[in-house]
Amino acid sequence: MNLYQPHLVRVADVVDETTDTRTLRLEFKDPSLAEGFDFRAGQFGEYSVFGAGECTFCIASPPTRKGYIECTFKAVGKATNALRGLGVGDTMGFRGPYGNHFPLDRMEGASIVFIAGGIGLAPVRCVIWNVLDQRDRFKDVTIVYGARTVGDLVYKHELEDWAARADVRLWQTVDPGGQTPDWPGEVGFVPAIVEKAAPAADNAYAVVCGPPIMIKFTLPVLAKLGFPPERVYTTLENRMKCGLGKCGRCNVGPVYVCKDGPVFTAAELAQLPAEF
Ligand SMILES: Cc1cc2nc3c(=O)[nH]c(=O)nc-3n(C[C@H](O)[C@H](O)[C@H](O)COP(=O)(O)OP(=O)(O)OC[C@H]3O[C@@H](n4cnc5c(N)ncnc54)[C@H](O)[C@@H]3O)c2cc1C
Ligand code: FES
Repeated sequence: MNLYQPHLVRVADVVDETTDTRTLRLEFKDPSLAEGFDFRAGQFGEYSVFGAGECTFCIASPPTRKGYIECTFKAVGKATNALRGLGVGDTMGFRGPYGNHFPLDRMEGASIVFIAGGIGLAPVRCVIWNVLDQRDRFKDVTIVYGARTVGDLVYKHELEDWAARADVRLWQTVDPGGQTPDWPGEVGFVPAIVEKAAPAADNAYAVVCGPPIMIKFTLPVLAKLGFPPERVYTTLENRMKCGLGKCGRCNVGPVYVCKDGPVFTAAELAQLPAEF
């Protein structure tokens, strides 16, 4: 079997999250895959538009919801703009799942704080729903999510769901100047809101994803709150081509982000070459 041959998937739903960010729900055309496709939270895939190319996205829906997968993407170039041209009923390609995953088995019985910025909520959303669909397995759930402006928040309906739940602590924030007059959330950068939320580090893990600058300033806050770097997980978005350890496009020193990652602990990131 050709490793690069994609599975055919049908666009089953299209949701515009913001003016430039869209979510596609995809259903496998092969009935055995539709039923049997399995993956772990944090894994990614290569999504293709025939004649235009492939692009790498996380799987944004949780493995606990069967029969479909979802991706959320921003149109930035050739393949992603071609993807924006697709509508419900169109056929495209998907290959995967690839990469490692967030170790939810290890996190069982612990509290989890999810921290995301902008479209970085896509991979984190997969883990959040996985955890909420198996809520009894975990202790406290805290979510800190920020975007530049209110209009840039993705998954707005799901943010409402999480805000309404008694078993989730949700902190939403926008950058200074990004608020609307009726904005009920916080105003400030994500690291400052994490400090204000002050989730307990005792028997807890953190899952962080967002722009590099957000991650850079959030890690010291988590360290200050007492989270050891071995319990802080993030996911990287290096440029990739094959997705399965063959082309060498994604490597950082000895590490292939597509195979050894994309999920790494803060302790592992600290070991990567300095230019990273
Ligand atoms: C594991 C992983 C998960 C990802 N998950 C998502 C996701 O859920 N949603 C999403 O929108 N994007 C995600 N990305 C980024 C996404 O792969 C790229 O934005 C996409 O492939 C661009 O394809 P393109 O052909 O449209 O852009 P191109 O025409 O190839 O490039 C357009 C511009 O985008 C830049 N660019 C392309 N790829 C990347 C990248 N990986 N990082 C930074 N800049 C890039 C290029 O340098 C160029 O400036 C992920 C990347 C990885 C590796
Ligand atoms: S993307 Fe080809 S080796 Fe990682």
